Amino acid sequence: MYDFTPAADATPAELHADLAQAALALIHDEPDPVANMANLAALLWQMLPRLNWAGFYRMVDGGLVLGPFIGKPACIRIALGQGVCGTAAARAETQLVPDVHAFPGHIACDAASRSELVVPVLRDGQVIAVIDLDSPEPARFDPVDAAGIEALARIIAPHI
Ligand code: SME
Repeated sequence: MYDFTPAADATPAELHADLAQAALALIHDEPDPVANMANLAALLWQMLPRLNWAGFYRMVDGGLVLGPFIGKPACIRIALGQGVCGTAAARAETQLVPDVHAFPGHIACDAASRSELVVPVLRDGQVIAVIDLDSPEPARFDPVDAAGIEALARIIAPHI
């Protein structure tokens, strides 16, 4: 059993440091990328409050394909440049979206989503996946979250 319960009084930065440490503990010894992404999705869901979707899209043959996640069933394939995920993948840049309704081309997989954070995972300079977090709360994510998930992306890149 793994119990990664965050401290109730943790600051957001402490929460992300704990998340990174827990992530590495979960995946460092396991070579299977699907198992690792599945556990990472569960970990994100468990440790970050106020989410309605947490998971991965993987780069496959030049497009994004749904990977392990927690949340409602989601669109399976996203072209590069399409939606928040496709934009993050095409630009190799984090997309911090306080209001998804104001993002041109946003793809609504869950009508409850109001804000979104998408962080590309790079290996050898190439985008291999994106981490996608959705929240039912407007402006749920801030630059501390973006920096925390970017750090997580660097840690997990060799293991997914
Ligand atoms: N909203 C995303 C699609 C994926 S779902 O949020 C899980 C987008 O616009 O790319």
